Amino acid sequence: MDGSAQIRRLDRADVDHCLRLALDRGWACERTKWNVLLDVGEGWGFDDRDGELGGAVILMRYDDVAFIGMLLVRARLGRRGFGRALMAVALERAGPATVLLYATAEGRPLYERLGFTEHAAATTYEGRWQSKMPAKTAQCFTPAQLSAGLFDQLVAADAQAFGSRRESLMRGLLRRASGVAVHRANNNLSFAIAWRNIDIVHIGPVVADTESGALAVVGALAGQGRMARIRIDVPEVGPFTGWLSAVGLHVTDRTPLMRRGYGNAFAGLSKFYALAMQATG
Ligand SMILES: CC(C)(COP(=O)(O)OP(=O)(O)OC[C@H]1O[C@@H](n2cnc3c(N)ncnc32)[C@H](O)[C@@H]1OP(=O)(O)O)[C@@H](O)C(=O)NCCC(=O)NCCS
Repeated sequence: MDGSAQIRRLDRADVDHCLRLALDRGWACERTKWNVLLDVGEGWGFDDRDGELGGAVILMRYDDVAFIGMLLVRARLGRRGFGRALMAVALERAGPATVLLYATAEGRPLYERLGFTEHAAATTYEGRWQSKMPAKTAQCFTPAQLSAGLFDQLVAADAQAFGSRRESLMRGLLRRASGVAVHRANNNLSFAIAWRNIDIVHIGPVVADTESGALAVVGALAGQGRMARIRIDVPEVGPFTGWLSAVGLHVTDRTPLMRRGYGNAFAGLSKFYALAMQATG
């Protein structure tokens, strides 16, 4: 790596730099996503000689698990050790945590060299909703309507399903969410968060005790924005994904989940129906 490049902490003022960096690699201009990530995650990056961001990475730390996402190095600086240097900072900051990441084909060789192995995969579903509401109805809220007590319940349900508490991610996501759906049955709480990412309504996380709870909350949010294109990133293919296909969504991508370390990651996966986003789990 070029000795003059200093890796520095990124903050919210770097959003435009991150967007230009993403564009340089042909990635979409995902302002909402970067805003959430720079708000609640640890961003690291370095400036190139022209004062542009030369590379970036985001680290999300939750208890004994960490997620790494948005690793990018400007194309003209590629294959010179910058990606490895950014990963070294993120891994050092992650400490003894089990580190997870969703890997692009381009990132994979670097992650394998760093000891990551494939563990599972996320399947991305996209499309327009073509179904009536499911039989079970969920209650929809705007983020401003959520009481502190209900927020605490959502954080607790997410922690139980994901395996680690993610209060600050939930708070950051809700700050920019368009809606939240909640469904209760037999003291079991299911919920989903919808947030707009460019021209797509991203639904996630989705946490539910049963498949019918998951269907109810996703159906309620999707039904609200009937004309919008929807995206859901599902950590495991099962009956739920069959239902997503049945309502008109189709698979647009499959992204391997890679892991380093062997902690209690994704402990209660059976209740975790959709990721918040790939960068955060
Ligand atoms: C992935 C990415 C960040 C790598 O950054 P980089 O600065 O080019 O990587 P480095 O130069 O630090 O390479 C690190 C190691 O990975 C290897 N490597 C990197 N890219 C590789 C590739 N495409 N094929 C094979 N090996 C590769 C290098 O040879 C190097 O190995 P070594 O240290 O043992 O010699 C960069 O290619 C990029 O921004 N890609 C587009 C965005 C993306 O897909 N990011 C990953 C998101 S999960």
